[in-house]
Amino acid sequence: MKIQIINGPNLNLLGVREPGIYGASSFEEYLAQLKRRYPDIEISSFQSNEEGEIINKIHETGFSFAGIVLNAGAYTHTSVAIHDAIKAVTTPVIEVHISNVHSREEFRHQSMIARACTGVIAGFGLDSYRLAVEAIKEAQ
Ligand code: DQA
Repeated sequence: MKIQIINGPNLNLLGVREPGIYGASSFEEYLAQLKRRYPDIEISSFQSNEEGEIINKIHETGFSFAGIVLNAGAYTHTSVAIHDAIKAVTTPVIEVHISNVHSREEFRHQSMIARACTGVIAGFGLDSYRLAVEAIKEAQ
């Protein structure tokens, strides 16, 4: 089974960026743990600060992978184009957030992509990604 994780803008700075909100671990450290925990799942990871590259990765993996775990970062709140890309593919997409976006600024309460996603997981720190992997695995 193949799962694609896609991280959007500023998520390359995990561990450095606002550690009080996003934690002290880099994504690479976390990803290594996640892969060890699910040795039977092929987990690929991609990060981009650019909207078009995120869309290209959804197109590339969205017809063959078992699931996409998408943290679109701030594009969550603005991107009709990412919404449309999710609608265009057949692979289920799970929206994830490290922080509980609903307990933060009002502009983070709206998601432009949630209605196109299979489900939304937010507020469990980096464990949000594992919960999404677990959901995709259970759905197989
Ligand atoms: C985030 C929440 C977004 O509002 C923010 O723009 C991010 C990270 C999260 O994982 O909590 O970049 O998606």
